[in-house]
Amino acid sequence: MAKQQAKTKIRTVQDSIITMTELVLPQHTNQLGNLLGGQLMHWIDICAALAAAKHSRRVCVTASVDNIDFHLPIKLGDVVTLKASVNRAFNTSMEVGVKVFAENFSKHKDFHTNSAYLTFVSVGENGKPIKTFKITPETDDEKRRYKDALERRRVRLLSRKKT
Ligand SMILES: CC(C)(COP(=O)(O)OP(=O)(O)OC[C@H]1O[C@@H](n2cnc3c(N)ncnc32)[C@H](O)[C@@H]1OP(=O)(O)O)[C@@H](O)C(=O)NCCC(=O)NCCS
Repeated sequence: MAKQQAKTKIRTVQDSIITMTELVLPQHTNQLGNLLGGQLMHWIDICAALAAAKHSRRVCVTASVDNIDFHLPIKLGDVVTLKASVNRAFNTSMEVGVKVFAENFSKHKDFHTNSAYLTFVSVGENGKPIKTFKITPETDDEKRRYKDALERRRVRLLSRKKT
């Protein structure tokens, strides 16, 4: 595996934040007027990829997506806001957390619909992994996510070995 050394530079979780806002249009919905799960996953993937790229200053590819649950339907006309940030950077990979909120301005409804964890790998022009920057968690929540990301990575890599 070709891994080039990235310059040693400490970066914060705040530096990696990406916020994306989308309007749910008819082409994004099923026959019931609910946002399609695949469309939401696409937005989650893009938002998370941008957070990983912002942190690493590199093109980042999706290595894995953890389980995503759909608890509440998001409806046609709702405004969807996605907020992604890097929870922890390892060697060439990063765990990115994404939170999804749906809002209906006219109905004054605003709710958290999904959370997702994705792993991205920073790659060079040849598509091979390249070492990324470490990340420094600052707040209590960031420190908790940073700590928990290590255990999630362990489980992820264990299930990767089994497949
Ligand atoms: C992801 C990819 C770059 C990994 O390359 P690789 O040569 O297998 O490299 P390695 O096995 O050395 O893994 C590199 C890093 O990815 C991590 N990784 C690889 N597969 C993973 C998985 N399924 N889940 C979580 N992390 C994973 C490794 O743990 C390692 O992290 P680290 O350097 O921080 O320790 C390569 O498999 C790839 O290009 N996959 C296709 C990516 C893609 O097209 N994504 C879109 C899919 S729709």
